[in-house]
Amino acid sequence: MKTVYVAMSADIIHPGHLNIIKEAAKLGRVIVGVLTDEAIASYKRLPYLNFEQRKLIVENLISVDEVVPQETLDYIPNIRKYKPDYVVHGDDWKTGVQAKVRQRVIETLAEWGGKLVEPQYTPGVSSTQLNAAIQEIGTTPEIRMKRLMRLINSKKIVRILEAHNGLTGLICEKASVDINGTKKEFDGIWLSSLTDSTAKGKPDIEYVDITSRMSTVNNILEVTTKPIIYDGDSGGLPEHFVFMVRTLERLGVSAVIIEDKIGLKKNSLFGTSGGQSQDSIENFAAKIKAGKRACVTEDFMIIARIESLILKAGLDNAIERAKAYIDAGADGIMIHSKGKTPDEIFEFCRRYEKLQTAIPLVAVPSTYSYVTEDELAQAGVKVVVYANQLLRSAYPAMVKTAQSILENGRALEAEKFCMSIKEIITLIPDGV
Ligand code: SPV
Ligand code: MG
Repeated sequence: MKTVYVAMSADIIHPGHLNIIKEAAKLGRVIVGVLTDEAIASYKRLPYLNFEQRKLIVENLISVDEVVPQETLDYIPNIRKYKPDYVVHGDDWKTGVQAKVRQRVIETLAEWGGKLVEPQYTPGVSSTQLNAAIQEIGTTPEIRMKRLMRLINSKKIVRILEAHNGLTGLICEKASVDINGTKKEFDGIWLSSLTDSTAKGKPDIEYVDITSRMSTVNNILEVTTKPIIYDGDSGGLPEHFVFMVRTLERLGVSAVIIEDKIGLKKNSLFGTSGGQSQDSIENFAAKIKAGKRACVTEDFMIIARIESLILKAGLDNAIERAKAYIDAGADGIMIHSKGKTPDEIFEFCRRYEKLQTAIPLVAVPSTYSYVTEDELAQAGVKVVVYANQLLRSAYPAMVKTAQSILENGRALEAEKFCMSIKEIITLIPDGV
């Protein structure tokens, strides 16, 4: 009996997929390579269903004889492994980004006389449209919360952008660029204390109370589906922190990051001039433990933020704290720096790697912004947070417009800085 190989993500099964499998079954025994989360995340948005769920669905399709994982977007490793007589794929990949992959599939199959069979692509069904429809339906707190961990486990580096209201949440959700046919977007949202406070006209000193911060979280939750990491400042007193954890977890926020500072909290980017002191390791570890005890699920993450480099306490201190916080149950470590270069972060990463822990590392390249995601990932950083860029770009633009109106005694000259009236009134559709 001949063997036939078909690769698919199988996140949303539609008649097009069934047609491919039906055609494949006419040729022999059907092996379906289901793309792993990692393989899918390498070129597009994480699938809705995880690998095990997608595998289960495909295993139960009539005509599928065997399901195997396809660990790369590239078909070749699996094709070499299973040496099928046929590969079956819709004819829609003859042009565009996949054309090169197709060519290599043909060449590889030729090594043992295998053939590529390309049934006509089923018109009228598009995974992209189905995806958009699902996104409109939204998400649930549980699905959203788990998503951050799934991203961390399946992406080289998870890319997070700051939001401070519904509109900026929508930018995090929807902004995308096309780079050589691959869609690139942000993976999640940072609920920055700096930008949330600033947007409210308040300093970043834990003055904006939790009720007000949760109202921002709610505004963002309402219009987005991506995971949220909440900047919990110092976490406050341990007795208060447990309530913060419970509230965030219930809402479906994925993680809280708390920083090891005490006294009046000032923004880290003041450095030592903020007059800030660092909490003792014992106290902060106890706060992490209290937070972990308060968690209802296994999925909510408490990430410990180390301020040793900010407060010039040195790398040894930072590493000692990383160890202690991990022992206390931290699900992630954020190492912060206000260096102009990423050197001290990289040095920390080298030392952190030696701890041989699977606990993911978070970095916030605000002052060392020339560092690239690839460089951070290479150093072992799993989550990169762009912590303030949306507000920092919006504010100067708004001030310029205000000044132009004042200078000219009318708004005409400011028009060139503005989106059109038509654009603003249609930016948020009414959903009817
Ligand atoms: C924030 O965005 O509020 C942060 C990061 O905590 S930083 O501003 O660099 O301290
Ligand atoms: Mg903050």
